[in-house]
Amino acid sequence: MKTVLLTGGLGYIGSHIAVCLQQSWRVVIVDNLANSSLEQLDRLQQLCPIAKADVFVADCADLTAFEAVYASIRPDAVIHLAGHKAVGESVEKPLMYYHNNLNATMNVLTLCARYATRTLIFSSSATVYGPQVSPMREDMALLETLNPYAETKAMSERMIRDFVKTHPDFQSTVLRYFNPVGAHPSGLIGERPNGIPNNLLPYIQQVASGKRPHLNVFGNDYPTPDGTPIRDYIHVMDLAQAHVAALNGATLGHHVYNVGTGKGTSVLELVTAFETATKIRIPVVVTARRAGDLVESTADVSKIEKELGWKATRSLETICLDAWKFESSQR
Ligand SMILES: NC(=O)c1ccc[n+]([C@@H]2O[C@H](COP(=O)([O-])OP(=O)(O)OC[C@H]3O[C@@H](n4cnc5c(N)ncnc54)[C@H](O)[C@@H]3O)[C@@H](O)[C@H]2O)c1
Repeated sequence: MKTVLLTGGLGYIGSHIAVCLQQSWRVVIVDNLANSSLEQLDRLQQLCPIAKADVFVADCADLTAFEAVYASIRPDAVIHLAGHKAVGESVEKPLMYYHNNLNATMNVLTLCARYATRTLIFSSSATVYGPQVSPMREDMALLETLNPYAETKAMSERMIRDFVKTHPDFQSTVLRYFNPVGAHPSGLIGERPNGIPNNLLPYIQQVASGKRPHLNVFGNDYPTPDGTPIRDYIHVMDLAQAHVAALNGATLGHHVYNVGTGKGTSVLELVTAFETATKIRIPVVVTARRAGDLVESTADVSKIEKELGWKATRSLETICLDAWKFESSQR
């Protein structure tokens, strides 16, 4: 069985990928626990037979520390998820984001070259498109990003693209995630934000569980049918399965794909979907617009459907029910 290394594999998305890959790949994880804990490993082990010895606590942004474990793993493929991901925090601490996210990507490429790893899947983000008109297409030029987090993703993508130009035996796939939400249907793993959630559904989950009194909706005067911004929410299990498709369908060269559903959902539509699915009312308070929020961000998903044969299948109702099951298990 071939070995795949998941950097940042104890986090929200990586743990779901580990579950989906376990039948066809040996999964090894490197994570520095910056936004995860070994308690997550206990829950993950209830879903997939990953050995404790295959989980290494190390910092991918530190080449010496990372190489010490990489040399013992010598993976056939890497799924590079490790990175900081909070947009607001990146505006306040840009150097922390540039240091962590860019060094981690550079080190992954350095070690791929040094240890003959020939396949890389990179976790990018729809934020690389900046303020362009949806649906976003992979062939749109990346002109301007709105924050340092997005910039680290755009720069990492370019680093990988340039690396591939000089390594013709390499296969890299960049996956631009839209809005990953939901949880594994068991309720054992899901998104656990530290402090105030940055993302909408985790916030709604916390209002539903009584941790927060209401949901702030930042502006209801956008040019959309109900006045609130529109996003493309994708179930984390669908997203995880896109990685399986990317890994099994990897081909030589550099490839970029959007990973979303292609469907837009407004803030208020998501609130209603959650209320309908769970029968829990979510009090809403409309406040002023938030700087930097796009009116709409949705994916054109025709390329990944055509080339990798992958398509999201889970509904908004499933997203809400699975997210709520996970949240309920946290109390
Ligand atoms: N969740 C989203 O909404 C979203 C959207 C688009 C892209 N992404 C990207 O997907 C990836 C995974 O996101 P997630 O939601 O699972 O985040 P997460 O924070 O839950 O997981 C990231 C993991 O990486 C680890 N990590 C961070 N820096 C590290 C380093 N230098 N060395 C080793 N481990 C490190 C953290 O401890 C954490 O376990 C990230 O790169 C993120 O930017 C996420």
